[in-house]
Amino acid sequence: MSSDDDLVEAARMAREQAWAPMSGYRVGAALRDADGRIWTGCNVEHVVLPETVCAEKTAIVKAVSEGARRFPVAAVFTDSDPPATPCGSCRQMLHAWGVEVVWVASPRALRRFTLSELLPAAFALDLGKAT
Ligand code: THU
Repeated sequence: MSSDDDLVEAARMAREQAWAPMSGYRVGAALRDADGRIWTGCNVEHVVLPETVCAEKTAIVKAVSEGARRFPVAAVFTDSDPPATPCGSCRQMLHAWGVEVVWVASPRALRRFTLSELLPAAFALDLGKAT
């Protein structure tokens, strides 16, 4: 149980839409934005394997394309034990959009990480100041 139970449940439900015919590995993700709104995504595989999109990235792109900009908390739902953490690329992308806490969940377990635990010394660049 956590104060982000609704976010974990949103990730669980998002996983229902996963399109994973190649791996059979289904992932759901959910983000809470600064206004408390929840955004979700699932993994979407492609027959050209490198074109596959992770659940976390689906959620970020959906949210940002609708105007949301910062997501203090994220949740990822898989069937793995222990619950799977986001891949390295997703960790960097979650960092870039302000995620500080990541819940990883399965039907049997729930675990909380800070993003700095998952991605110490993250790459960061303020593009607003770049020349
Ligand atoms: N996947 C995610 O959706 N998120 C991650 O952080 C790691 C991996 C997906 C991609 C692919 O569809 C499947 O899991 C197996 O790698």
